[in-house]
This record gives sequence, C-alpha cells and structure tokens, in this order.
Amino acid sequence: MFFKYLSVPARPDEDFFTYIFCRAEKDRFIMCGIVGYTGSRQAASVLFDALSSLEYRGYDSAGISLFTDAGIATIKSQGRLQNLVEKMQQAQPAAASCGIGHTRWATHGEPSDLNAHPHATEKLSLVHNGIIENYQQLRQKLTMQGYTFLSRTDTEVAAKLLDSLYEGDPIAAICKAQTLLEGSFAFAILFADQPQTVYAVRRGSPLIAAMGKQESFVASDVPAILPYTRDYILLEEGQVAAVSPGNVEIYNAEGEPVAFELHTATWSVEQAQKGGYDYFMRKEICEQPEALLHTIHPRIADGLPSFEQDGIPDAFWKGFNRISIVACGTAMHAGMVGRILIERLARIPVECDIASEFRYRNPILTKDTLVLLISQSGETADTLAALRLARQCGATTLAVVNVTGSSIAREADYVIHTYAGPEIAVASTKAYSVQLSVMYMVAFKLAVASGQLTADQCRTLTASLLQAVDATKQALALDAEIEGYVKRYKTLKDLFFLGRGLDYALSMEGSLKLKEISYIHCEAYAAGELKHGTISLITENVPVVAVATQQALLAKTVSNIKEVRSRGADVLLICKEGFDIDPEVYGKRLELPALDDLFMPLPGVVVLQLIAYHTAVLRGCDVDKPRNLAKSVTVE
Ligand code: F6R
Repeated sequence: MFFKYLSVPARPDEDFFTYIFCRAEKDRFIMCGIVGYTGSRQAASVLFDALSSLEYRGYDSAGISLFTDAGIATIKSQGRLQNLVEKMQQAQPAAASCGIGHTRWATHGEPSDLNAHPHATEKLSLVHNGIIENYQQLRQKLTMQGYTFLSRTDTEVAAKLLDSLYEGDPIAAICKAQTLLEGSFAFAILFADQPQTVYAVRRGSPLIAAMGKQESFVASDVPAILPYTRDYILLEEGQVAAVSPGNVEIYNAEGEPVAFELHTATWSVEQAQKGGYDYFMRKEICEQPEALLHTIHPRIADGLPSFEQDGIPDAFWKGFNRISIVACGTAMHAGMVGRILIERLARIPVECDIASEFRYRNPILTKDTLVLLISQSGETADTLAALRLARQCGATTLAVVNVTGSSIAREADYVIHTYAGPEIAVASTKAYSVQLSVMYMVAFKLAVASGQLTADQCRTLTASLLQAVDATKQALALDAEIEGYVKRYKTLKDLFFLGRGLDYALSMEGSLKLKEISYIHCEAYAAGELKHGTISLITENVPVVAVATQQALLAKTVSNIKEVRSRGADVLLICKEGFDIDPEVYGKRLELPALDDLFMPLPGVVVLQLIAYHTAVLRGCDVDKPRNLAKSVTVE
C-alpha cells in the first residue's frame, strides 16, 4: 500500500472545507456529484447511498456503471435519484462490487437520459464534475478520427478522448488526456479490462479518495463516504488516483507515484452534507460571491456583457418599446430591482408584476413587448401560466431560470440560465443575487442597444458589477456584528423595513426573508409613504431597519428615519461607508462598501439575509424548512 500515515493527528476538518471552498473559488462550476466504489459490498447500494448524500450538488439526472461478470453495465435516468432506483429495479443488473455513479446539475445539454452520466465506450465508462471548455474543438477532431456522439455533453467528448488514448495503461492515458483538456474536471473512470479498480483525476473540481477495510472510494465530497470510513485523501491539482479494495495509489500529473496524507473526518453525516454549516441557508448565503462569478463571467466578452452563449444575439435587444417583468416572491423582488435598472439606464418603460396578478389583469402585450420571467425553480405555476399567456399574445419571452430543463426554461423563447448551483434551503438567497446580476447585464445590454450607453460606458459599468461581487464578500464579514445585534429581536412581534428607490426594492426582499423564516411580522415600506397612514403602528416596541444606500435620496430618507426615530423606534441603519448621517437618528449603523449607488443592492441583500438568518436561529426556527412552505410552488 503506497501511502503515508501522518504521525501527528490528521489535520482538522476545517482543512477540508478550506480545500473545497478555496478550490471552488477557482472552479467555474461546482455542480454535479461523482462517486466510485470497489470492495466487498454490493456496489449499487453503496453508490446509491453516496449519491443521495451528494444530491445537493444537482439532481437533474443520475446514473451508475457497474463492473459485472458480463462487463460494464450502465443505467441512467433523467430526474431525481429515485427515478434511477426504479429503473434499476426493472433492469436488475447482475451483482457487482465495483462501480461509479453520478448526480447531475445540467450545464451542457438539457437534463435527459441521453445526456446523463456515465458516458461509456467499449473500453471505459466515465463520470464527470466540471466543464470541458475546449470540448467543441476536441469533438471535431474525434469526429474526424471516426468517433460518433450520442449526447450534447462535454463529458461524452472527454470519454471518447480517453478511449482514443487508451492502450492498456490507464494512468498514462489519463495523464495524456489531462494535457489535452481545458477547463475544470473531476472524473471517476472504469476501464473494461481493469476489473475491481476505479481510476480518478481532478483539476479544478473537488475530489477525494478514501479507504476502509477491504474497500476504497472516490467522491466529490466527504459526506459520500462517511457511513463507511472516515479516512480520506484530498487529491491535489492534476493528481490521479487508482483505487482497488483497501488500497489507494496516487500519481502526479506526469504519472509518477506520490505519497499522500491521510485525513480523518470527525463530523456527522448531517453536518457534512451542509459542508460544515449549521444550515443550508447559511451555506447558500456564503456561496453568493462564487455563484455570482459563475453567472457573470461566462457572459463577459471584451469587457462587455454578452448573451451569445445563451443563443441571444446582440440584435435581440433592439426594438422593444415596453418590458414586462413577471415573477413571484423573491424572484419578483429581483424584478423590482431590474425594473429600476432598466428604466434608469435604457429609458424603456418597465412594469414589474406578481405573476398571479399579471394573468388576471388582462395585460397589454404586443409583439414589441419583451416579457421577462424570473424563476429559480423554473416550475412556479403562476410564472409558467404568465409565460404561456405572454406567448399567446405574441410577446417575446425571455426567462431567467436556475434549473436547466425546467418547464419555464423549455417553453420560453429565450433563456438565460443563472448558475447558482442547487439551492436547497426553502428561503431563496443565492438565487436572488444571481438573478440581480442578470438584471444588471440585461439593463446594460438594453441601454447599449437603445443608444443610451456607449460601449465604453457599458464597460465601466460591467467592471463595477464585478467590484460589487467583491463587496458581497465584505458584506459577509459583517456576520458576527449582525448576529450580536439581532439578539434584541428574540421575542419581537413586528418590524418595519424602510427605503427609497433601489433600497425600497431591496427592503421588500429583506422583509420577506425575515418574516418567512423567523415568523416575525414585518413590512417593507417606501420610506416616504409611511407617514400616509402606517406610521401609526410605530412605537417603542416596533423597530425599524432603515436601508439608506442611495446618495441621491439620502437627505429625504434620513428625514423619514427621523420621523420613526422620534416616535420611539429602535433603528438599525444600513448605509454606505462614509455617509454623513446624524448619529441621533439610529441606534446601530452597519456600513456597506462604497460602490456606485446602482450596485448597492448586491452587498445590501447579504446583510438583510444575515439579519433574517441569525434572527431565525435565535428564535429556534427551522431555518431551512420554514412552516407551511415548499421550495417549488407548482400550484396556482
Ligand atoms: C422566498 C422564496 C419564494 C420564491 C417564489 C418563486 O424565499 O424562495 O418567494 O422566490 O416562490 O419561486 P421561483 O423563483 O422558483 O419561481
């Protein structure tokens, strides 16, 4: 056995999280879960267990390949793991003690049986997490060599590339393939002539190898192996693993054997699935900078936003005389921000509707109207119905969705996919941020197309958008301060959020988050509107969260804050760094990085999410699964 036990206790588990998240920073996509098993148990059952703990990484399709006496048997199915279980029950493949598995978050190619992993050739079967950036060039070359392709995935290209390089030495073929592949990947591979061995390699995507008694594993993440063993190895960039029952060998990118450190996990299976966080919501709040970069980066060309990769040519953005944004809940709040951005930058009239209202108000839609539908799940019944209505009326429909292959994504004329990754907490956080990022880029595009912005001005704004992503990291650093402050909300019954313009749109989201998970009754009010009736509800027992990030509206917002302060309200002020505001008007001040006013919603929402999160935890609420709610609302 070629490994080195550490003489000191294994590194603490935080190392694993640092590893995963630091690596993820470099990853363009962390979606998909992969696993490999070889040992004395039924491989299918180990693989299913492991995939169910990796399902948080994606659940568009799942598949496994098993090393049976008759060769490699592959079974895969679109949709949740349960669909695969049912397919397995029907297919009844021969018993096997070695195999690989995959759970998919679709990136290249819609979720379907055909696009599901593993991708197999006569010589091998392979599962993949990551993106092969040069897959089109490789596909052309392989086609010229006589290979044919069944799916639209980059992974099938990688499988066929490896097939073309394999001449009986798996390590040599994998090392050679690495030199030809661009992008990020973690592969687990079975070679038809190498029974009982799983091969794996990583560059840019996370991968561990692990061993127990007479059994070994490879996986994207520690939770997959925890029921069987706690000893694992973190593969470094370019390293290749060959795992056989009870034995792990690691090679460098040149194919030379290398020593490795063995780590020991000490946390529970439950904790591990949440990546060490107490709740998925907290994990997803923290993932926002990364999710934003995933969504924005592939859509910047020459410093300007480009939706060519989404099949939306530049000419598309010209000629709309009205825009209607339609969505529900949090997605609608992203639309409220979008409306302000588009009107301000592109000078095109925009309406923003709640989907369930839109349908019944007989909206005026023509062929020159762009209907922009926003949905994380892509399955929300009211948003889907609004989309169908818009299409019937002859309007052009553009959907912004997080789930590839969802109903809204399939039925809209055009789709922009957000790349937030799977959002598991019922309360939406990272999906909102990435929806905002698309709103910015759409507004920039429309503004250039309508002649309101020059390309250079647009470049400056695009650079500012990337700075705003950095600012979300700084907002995350306010976590401890927020946690301490919200202790006063432990037994609270009512609260108001106030803001003007973009801050009002943002307050609506902050208010929804807080009421949804902490069960405190709260309302977001346009700061100038409160005095027209609702201010009668303000007392010493009704605190106010005042959002004041807009320089142009600052004086007016501050006078509204004074109105509530003088009626006894405990005010938490969220403002931009450096704003000169009389300390008499607030009890506590939280400062956001000083960006251009336009971009303040991005760091701003992080603070509002943290307020909701810490308040809900303090009150003992079920943060990830608040009462009466479901993640995807498929009823009208
Ligand atoms: C709130 C929340 C909901 C959803 C709404 C629309 O935290 O998640 O308000 O935003 O149900 O869902 P999607 O975006 O899936 O259409």
